[in-house]
Amino acid sequence: PKYLQEDQSEECKKFLSTLPKEKGWMESTIYNYQGFWSSSRAIQGVIACQQQFQAQDSDIILVTSPKSGTVWLKSLLFALVNRNNHPIFEKDHPLLLKNPHDLVLFLELDLYADGQVPDFSSFTSPRLLATHVPFASLPKSVKNSRTKLVYLCRNPRDTFISMWNFANNLRLDNHKDINSIEEMFDHFCKGVSLYGPFWNQVLDYWKESIENPDKVFFLMYEEIKKQPKIQLKRLAEFLECPFSIEEENCGVVDEILRMCSFENLRNLEVNTHGKMSAGVANKNFFRRGKVGDWKNYFTVEMNDKLNHIIEQKFQGSGLKF
Ligand code: A3P
Repeated sequence: PKYLQEDQSEECKKFLSTLPKEKGWMESTIYNYQGFWSSSRAIQGVIACQQQFQAQDSDIILVTSPKSGTVWLKSLLFALVNRNNHPIFEKDHPLLLKNPHDLVLFLELDLYADGQVPDFSSFTSPRLLATHVPFASLPKSVKNSRTKLVYLCRNPRDTFISMWNFANNLRLDNHKDINSIEEMFDHFCKGVSLYGPFWNQVLDYWKESIENPDKVFFLMYEEIKKQPKIQLKRLAEFLECPFSIEEENCGVVDEILRMCSFENLRNLEVNTHGKMSAGVANKNFFRRGKVGDWKNYFTVEMNDKLNHIIEQKFQGSGLKF
């Protein structure tokens, strides 16, 4: 799949050779660019996007740490923001026919990937976009405009387990050996994870959401699981498209949550048998969808080690995992 391609121009090879590198999760190598780790393909996309992307005031950008439930939030945002042009009770709603990754594209992994010049002409307003890039590396126009950012994170223990499983499934699909949990756990703890260090990305967006609450909305996977209706209504308010009383009475909020639920999305034909445009089988994005699956994998030692890191990194921030 395109996702895992590591082709590089001579110029790019030269540039990458100046960056720190480590063994990749699914690709052979990941590089440290501007303080975060990513694949050569993503870094080229990030650079192009930093140079070229012109944000609009009405843009909405979903930012996530990989494996924190991006596909869930993409579906919720799509359903929420487009509920006037795509009524939620419609039988041929786009979310029933396409994977959310093909409805809300990543800046660096889709739109600006592979040397493309993106065509935004078919986008309706507000444009709904996504990225995994840390706050400091966002294109300048995103920071200088009134573009709204929705940030999603997840308990680092579950994020790690989800990433380890996802990466290994992609490796297996590409006839590569799987990575052991011990090795990748060590990587994760050292901060060597996709778009990591995990804690740096989370803390930077957390700080921004406190200093600039109209610009950055901070969400946690576990909170949406616990209080889906409350969190979706908060999200709608942040995006200045709150639900009306009539909509609530007609069950629009419940229907959006039902349509975007793990069980519903996972069992759609497009997600059991389809592939996203970047070439990855859609089923890989729907594994267990549970809170606390890490308990089925962690040893006592792993638990102690990550607890210690979490305590150190998030101390005094007000964030608890
Ligand atoms: P698990 O591997 O723990 O099951 P991302 O979209 O960022 O790649 O994250 C994928 C994770 O979100 C996977 O976690 C996946 O199962 C879970 N997920 C996908 N759709 C979901 C949904 N509708 N509700 C809750 N979790 C979902």
